[in-house]
Amino acid sequence: AHADPSTLPLRGLNVLVTAGPTQESLDPVRYLTNHSTGKMGYAIAEAARDMGADVTLVSGPVALDAPDGVDTVRVTSAKDMFDAVSKRFGDADITVMAAAVGDFRAENVHPQKIKKHGRDTLELKLVSNPDILAWAGAHKREGVRLGDGTEEPRPQVLCGFAMETEHLVERASEKLNEKRCDMLVANNLNDRGAGFATDTNVVTVLTPGAAPEPLSIMGKGDLAGLILKRLAVIHANKLA
Ligand code: CTP
Ligand code: CA
Repeated sequence: AHADPSTLPLRGLNVLVTAGPTQESLDPVRYLTNHSTGKMGYAIAEAARDMGADVTLVSGPVALDAPDGVDTVRVTSAKDMFDAVSKRFGDADITVMAAAVGDFRAENVHPQKIKKHGRDTLELKLVSNPDILAWAGAHKREGVRLGDGTEEPRPQVLCGFAMETEHLVERASEKLNEKRCDMLVANNLNDRGAGFATDTNVVTVLTPGAAPEPLSIMGKGDLAGLILKRLAVIHANKLA
């Protein structure tokens, strides 16, 4: 059954979502990763589809099935995710980055299995990965009239996530500003019901120039709907 179009606030919009962890190879059998399961990002992709959007989901390795009706692109490393996102970002009206992207990768991936024999310690040198959200913030179209009288078409709305273990609001506010997001959804890993493998989340929503808004515990599906409704309003206001 199809819903009434008035309940499809994202109809005609392209929504790009990142989800899941990344894997950074150390050698042919080992990698660095994190505890992300992809649940929050997949919930956002599904909610955006249900609100009428054309959805592209760039997903790191997770155990979840690709959502029906969502163009799902599977990637492994942060560099792969950057390539997949940077190629598609220009087409997106609303982008939500829920992926837990590895901040570092091995400077050199060992071509053969690293052997333990003869070693008491092992040093790994890591180098930083591209920050996909910061890149998107730097390339985001505001849809404003430019000084020379021309117009930058099709405004883009950008939403990031932040996971913190302390000083949630301060650190998340810095990310909101530095990555030029229109909204940042911050969670504290220490809150009960927040974090990786749960079906719920406890978040504080940050937007530029407004007081941080702590929300009570919600199912990830309901939270996804709330986030997208707000992003639809931000998008509509940029058009106005
Ligand atoms: N992010 C990203 N690319 C990266 C790192 C992070 O796109 N290489 C995005 C995440 O998807 C999230 C946001 O940036 O939307 C914040 O991620 P987080 O790990 O909380 O913040 P960092 O800026 O990486 O800082 P730190 O891990 O040191 O707290
Ligand atoms: Ca990080």
